[in-house]
Amino acid sequence: MPDTGVKPPVLRREIGLFGATALGIGAIIGSGIFIVTGIVAGVAGPAMVLSVLIAGVIAVFSAMSVAELGACLPEEGGTYAYAQKLISPFAGFIAGWIWIFSNIFVGAAVSLGFAHYFVTIFPAVPVKIIALVICFFFILINYVGLRESVLFNNVLVTLKVLILLFFVAFGLGFFRPGNFTPLAPGGSMGVLGGAALIFFAYTGFARVTIMAEEVQDPEKTIPRSIYLALGISTVIYLLVSMVAVGLAGAPALAHSGSPLADAIGMTGSSGAVLLISAGAMIATASVLLTTIMGISRIVFSMARSQDLPFLFGRIHPRFSTPHYAIAITGACMIAALLLADLALVVAVGTFAMLLYYLIANLAALRLPQEHRRYPSWIPAMGAVSCIGLIAFLSPGAWVIGCIGLLIGGTWFFFRRKTAP
Ligand code: ALA
Repeated sequence: MPDTGVKPPVLRREIGLFGATALGIGAIIGSGIFIVTGIVAGVAGPAMVLSVLIAGVIAVFSAMSVAELGACLPEEGGTYAYAQKLISPFAGFIAGWIWIFSNIFVGAAVSLGFAHYFVTIFPAVPVKIIALVICFFFILINYVGLRESVLFNNVLVTLKVLILLFFVAFGLGFFRPGNFTPLAPGGSMGVLGGAALIFFAYTGFARVTIMAEEVQDPEKTIPRSIYLALGISTVIYLLVSMVAVGLAGAPALAHSGSPLADAIGMTGSSGAVLLISAGAMIATASVLLTTIMGISRIVFSMARSQDLPFLFGRIHPRFSTPHYAIAITGACMIAALLLADLALVVAVGTFAMLLYYLIANLAALRLPQEHRRYPSWIPAMGAVSCIGLIAFLSPGAWVIGCIGLLIGGTWFFFRRKTAP
């Protein structure tokens, strides 16, 4: 290999089952349940609970493919590494590229989600300024090191799960079954459109595969942590969306920028509103933390394989983090949150993430028979359902997503032509 200036990796295997599951939940539960549920309520009505269920089932197919791949090839980089090995270098590159692209928008979405709940408590501060500050803060945390970040993530995840369970338990006492009629004013198209939007809430279940080289006993830990993280999140999402409709009704949720705070507000408890708003900020912050952490790791892997400039693969001499990768992708995230609104960044992030899972399912279909854990109809269903959901996303998401793909494809071609 030519000398690229890329230093040997110094990443350590220090993430166990709890840490790996917390990484998954840290990446999954965020703006989706706390904010996008409002948009989904407008599209699907009370049947948004069905949308949440459908999106969850679709996520399971892709999660099974990712778990199968992660157990068989526990390498840093997730689908970037799997697709390179099982499909082609181009497919691998596009998977890595689209993952980075998607998560830049996810990071922007959760920063904005954080800000929307922050202004329910401090209404005088502009949303974009709060989003900018929180995003910058988490870029700094990631810059100074993984050890602190994993520990911090475990604390944030525990808190957000407890606060959502409080929402369910406390809200159940004020549940109005009448809020569920009419059940599906948008019909089946409304339910399916809602499923495409709320799929955003499930993205993140594959996060642990991005950091596979830091996971202990990866063959067992990776699949288990994926199923645990997705299972726990799905149950919480179903309960929370049901209680939210039961408390406030779909029309009220649809008109809210902070739907869960408004829903719990129906109980008349201002303390509960404060707690749920704090929970939303904790949840979005923890997604932001693992998102920046994940992006930096995949950029690092791609630089190590010379798919991105070698600068991105440099490790900080003191903090042992890929600091250039963190700083540059963090700057892109800040640009996205300043330039676009929440609905658009959510849709673009989902579009790109569905493409990423599509490539993961195609890679799983190429696994040799002896490494298969599941029959091939599982990844086939995963691939078809990802395409199906993409079809429901907005034209804006298609345009920006395709521009992102085009830039990536052009860079790949240019790099191949000029590589030594
Ligand atoms: N699934 C993540 C969230 O809902 C991106 O915030």
